[in-house]
Amino acid sequence: MGTYLITGATGGIGAAVAGLLRERGHDLILTGRSAEKLAALSGSLSGGAHARTQAFSIGQATTATATAVHTLVLDLNEPRRLEAALVEADLPDRLDGVIHSAGFVHLGTVAETEADEWIDHLNTNLVSAAELTRLLLPALRAAQGHVVFVNSTAGLRANPNWSAYAASKFGLRALADSLRAEEPELRVTTVYPGRTATEMQRRVRAQEGKDYRAEDFADAATVARVLVGALETPRDAVVSDVSVRPH
Ligand SMILES: NC(=O)c1ccc[n+]([C@@H]2O[C@H](COP(=O)([O-])OP(=O)(O)OC[C@H]3O[C@@H](n4cnc5c(N)ncnc54)[C@H](OP(=O)(O)O)[C@@H]3O)[C@@H](O)[C@H]2O)c1
Repeated sequence: MGTYLITGATGGIGAAVAGLLRERGHDLILTGRSAEKLAALSGSLSGGAHARTQAFSIGQATTATATAVHTLVLDLNEPRRLEAALVEADLPDRLDGVIHSAGFVHLGTVAETEADEWIDHLNTNLVSAAELTRLLLPALRAAQGHVVFVNSTAGLRANPNWSAYAASKFGLRALADSLRAEEPELRVTTVYPGRTATEMQRRVRAQEGKDYRAEDFADAATVARVLVGALETPRDAVVSDVSVRPH
């Protein structure tokens, strides 16, 4: 079984990916901003279908067995602090995969989007993904691991009001493509979801002044299935880019 680190694990898509990977018996390192949300998620992964899981926070003494869920609080809006946080976390020497699912969007025209808003989008959605990948490369190389970037259809086409978010996601595609070319032993996948029924989409609809109806959007569990399908693709091929849109 493998070990996977997931950012944005407390979000809709990240939690769905965590659930699928736990069902398959993998060890997980769940990262997010909120210790409380992370504890609730690791607790839920310890029950029911995931009953074999032992949950604990990184740095805490543990008697965990072969299957484990670790949690690690990271604020991705502070990319300069990630290196110290990872040193303190004492992560494993081998990582089979990193799933970059954390993301943030606040809509606004170019005319009304100030520098801080741009910086928040770029830090959280792009710079931290690059920095985390850089810091985790030795562990990923050791396992010939897989890096998955959860992008967006906004990373393929920038619409009005989406400039800062779209720019961060266009950049995330560049990061993935450069990484794939530079690290041929790694597998690198970009997933481009369309609108998906999560808290992010609920907030987007509110910003657009529109109702939110989950059934209008793709299910986070469906996006997670596509992502895990990419992770499970046999090693003779790699899913480099995949779009998954509501139908
Ligand atoms: N939902 C959609 O319609 C949609 C469409 C296309 C692409 N995507 C992408 O899919 C990914 C997952 O989004 P989602 O739909 O699952 O949204 P979500 O439910 O809002 O989850 C977002 C996740 O990112 C985390 N996050 C946000 N800012 C962070 C920060 N500064 N530091 C650390 N973590 C932070 C959130 O943590 P908290 O729990 O602490 O808030 C949460 O875990 C994102 O990259 C998003 O851009 C979503």
